[in-house]
Amino acid sequence: MEKIDLSKYKKIVFFTGAGMSAESGVPTYRGQGGIWKEYNFQEYACQEAFDRDPEKVLDFHEIRRKAVLECYPHKGHEIIANLYNRHHVSVITQNIDGIHQRSGCEDVVELHGSLWRVRCPVHGISKDLEPGFKNRKCPECGNWLRPDITWFGDMLNADVVNKAIAVISCCDLFINIGISGVVYPAAGFPIHAKDNEARCICINPEFPADIEIYDEFIQGKAGDILPKIFC
Ligand code: OAD
Repeated sequence: MEKIDLSKYKKIVFFTGAGMSAESGVPTYRGQGGIWKEYNFQEYACQEAFDRDPEKVLDFHEIRRKAVLECYPHKGHEIIANLYNRHHVSVITQNIDGIHQRSGCEDVVELHGSLWRVRCPVHGISKDLEPGFKNRKCPECGNWLRPDITWFGDMLNADVVNKAIAVISCCDLFINIGISGVVYPAAGFPIHAKDNEARCICINPEFPADIEIYDEFIQGKAGDILPKIFC
């Protein structure tokens, strides 16, 4: 497998999805063992569900927070973090688990929000880093605190999407890892990178739906492939 010559690139973007965290033990959303096979998103991951039964939705997210804390960054995360600290690298992720940050990438563009933040409709966003939620209701106004995550039916945060587009616009190497490519606008990001003449690589054990966009498709797992192409 050909190694990537870093000296050829001024700015690298890693765009990661659930497959990036799979080898850490975090289940993906679709496919075998996917979260949406076990849990009906209409009961656990949409605003209507939260309005109907906030305790049930918060219980579900508490289970996810505890599960994620038992998962650790793998070799692939370490390689990205290592590059992040010595090259011009940005990380954009659909993942809400915070594992890139735990591996050492400080500033990650989190397209779908974070399991580690909550949002009050009046007082805005706050961090909440313990396994169990510190408060389920806002201490100031008593409103329920909802996880600061993009659920089904939610709009993505426009500032975050714009930041992702700005970062992609100036990259010359775009590496897509572990994304099924069915959720927009993220599915349009590789096209945007290509339009800006970046070299586009996709790493995934399965053939992606948008395979024709990529200059190179490397079939395999993130934790196996990243050490081979970067070390
Ligand atoms: P999906 O679960 O839809 O797809 C996971 C992708 O990772 C698939 O293409 C797998 O083939 C691939 N994969 C599995 N194991 C891998 C590995 N070890 N290395 C590399 N790739 C691997 O996940 P996403 O595309 O991230 O949204 O899902 C997008 C969004 O759908 C999620 O952010 C979530 C979900 O509903 C929200 O919660 C809003």
